[in-house]
Amino acid sequence: MAHTMIIFGASGDLTSRKLIPALYELFRKKRLPEKTRIVGFSRTAFSDDAWRAKLAETTAQFTGEHFDAAIWREFASSIFYHSGDIARDESFIELEKYLNELEGGESTARAYYLSTAPQLYDATVARLGAMGMANEDRGPRRVVIEKPFGTDLVSARQLNQKMHEVLAEHQIYRIDHYLGKETVQNILVLRFANSIFEPIWNRNYIDHVQITAAEDLTVGHRAAYYDSVGVLRDMFQNHLLQLMTFTAMEAPARFEADSIRDEKVKVLRSVRLMKPEEVCNDTIRGQYRKYRDEPGVPADSETATFGAIKLHIDNWRWQDVPFLLRSGKAMSCRTTQIVIQFRAAPHMMFEGGPRAAFESNRLVIQVQPAEGIQLHFQTKVPDAGVKLRLTDLGFNFRDKFAGGMPEAYERLLLDVLHGDASLFSRADEVELAWSIIDPIQKGWEHPGWPPLAFYEGGAWGPPNSTEWMCRQYREWFDTCPVLK
Ligand code: BG6
Repeated sequence: MAHTMIIFGASGDLTSRKLIPALYELFRKKRLPEKTRIVGFSRTAFSDDAWRAKLAETTAQFTGEHFDAAIWREFASSIFYHSGDIARDESFIELEKYLNELEGGESTARAYYLSTAPQLYDATVARLGAMGMANEDRGPRRVVIEKPFGTDLVSARQLNQKMHEVLAEHQIYRIDHYLGKETVQNILVLRFANSIFEPIWNRNYIDHVQITAAEDLTVGHRAAYYDSVGVLRDMFQNHLLQLMTFTAMEAPARFEADSIRDEKVKVLRSVRLMKPEEVCNDTIRGQYRKYRDEPGVPADSETATFGAIKLHIDNWRWQDVPFLLRSGKAMSCRTTQIVIQFRAAPHMMFEGGPRAAFESNRLVIQVQPAEGIQLHFQTKVPDAGVKLRLTDLGFNFRDKFAGGMPEAYERLLLDVLHGDASLFSRADEVELAWSIIDPIQKGWEHPGWPPLAFYEGGAWGPPNSTEWMCRQYREWFDTCPVLK
C-alpha cells in the first residue's frame, strides 16, 4: 500500500532537524516503504522545489557524512509542499483535494503528523474529522502527536476526549522520542531475553534505582517557552517515567503494542501518589544561576530547571525500593543513565572492605551518549594484601556493532508507517503519568515546598540534592560517560 505522511507545521524546527533527516536515513537504508510521499503543510508559501532545496541544506547539516546528493535527489522527488492555514476549514478542503490528486485515487495509508503548537492539536483533529479525512475507508488514517500532551491531568483528559470524538485509539500515536532510542528498547531485551537478571530484579536484591537525565546545555532559545513548563513537565512526565516503567514493568506476554502498554500502565497505577507534605521531603528543585538572565525569562522566575524526586511503586516486586529520578539543564555533562543499585553483601568478612551501600554492586545502563551497560563489582587489588576496589565489566554498543546508533525518530516514524503502536503512549498511560506529576507540580507552586535551590552551571544540580541523598544513606552516581 502507498503511504503519505502529511506534516502540519512543516516550516518548524522539528521537521528540518528530526523528521526529514530521519525519513532520509530510512530511505538511504532502503527501509522506507515504496511509494511513500511526504507532504509539508503550513502557512509559509513554498514551491515544492524551494522546500526541497531548503530541506537539502538542513538534512545535509543534520545527517553529516551520511548525506549523499544523488540519494537525496531521488528521495526528494517524493517530497511535496502545500501551503494553507491550519485554522481555516477551506484549507483542509483544499488539502484533501490536493492529497487525493497526489494519491491518484489509490488506497493509501495516511499519517497526519502534528508538529504544530500544542494549542492547535484539538482543532486540527476536529477539522480532520469534519472533512472526513480521518475516515479509514480508503486506507488507514493515523495521527501522530508530539509532546506535550496536555499540561496536567485535566487538560490531558480533555485532549484525549477531543481526539476520541474523531479517532479510535488505534489511530493515535503519541510520541515520546525516548522510546525510539535503541538503548531504551534494549532495557526490555536485557531484562527479558536473558535469564540471569530477572531473578535478582526485585526488592530482595535491589536497594534503589536511580534514573538521571542530565543535560549540559542551558535552555537557550527555548527559554520563554521553557519558563512556562519547567523540568517536571518537560522531562519527568514523559521521558523519565517511561524509563522507569521499562525498568520496573513485569514481562509482557507478547511483544506487541497492548501487551507492552498494559504492563507499563500497571506500573504507573502502582506508583504511590505524593501527598502535599511529602512533596517537601521527597523532592528537590533547583534553578541554574544564570537562568533568570535568559531572554524571555522573568527576573523573579521560580521555574525549576533541575528536579529530583523519590517515587515508590507499591507492588510485591518493588515495595520499599525507592526510584530516584532526577533531571536538569546546565549540568556537568550530557548523560542519561539508569543505575540499578544492589544491596550490600549481607556479611563482609574482609577488613576495610566495602561498608557503605553505595559501594555494593551496581548495574549502569547508559542510555546516551556512551550507549552501553556496565556491571560494577568488588575485586581484589593485586599485590596489596586484602584490599578491594570496585571495578567494572563494560559493554558499549559502538564497539560491538558497526553502523552507529540511529536517531530515535527513524524507528518511530517507521513504526507509524507500519502501524505499530508499541513504542507510543496510550491514552490511559499519559493520564496516569500526569496523575503522578500533578501533585508534585502543585506542591512546587508554593514558594517553600521545597525551596528553590540555586546551582552553578556545570554542577550536578544544587548541593542540597547531594545532601538529600546523603540523608537517605545513598549517593548519586555522578559520573560523566567516557566517550571514545
Ligand atoms: C525534549 C525536551 O523532550 O527532550 C528538551 O523538551 C530536552 O528540553 C530533550 O532537551 C532531550 O532529548 P534528548 O534526546 O537529547 O535526551
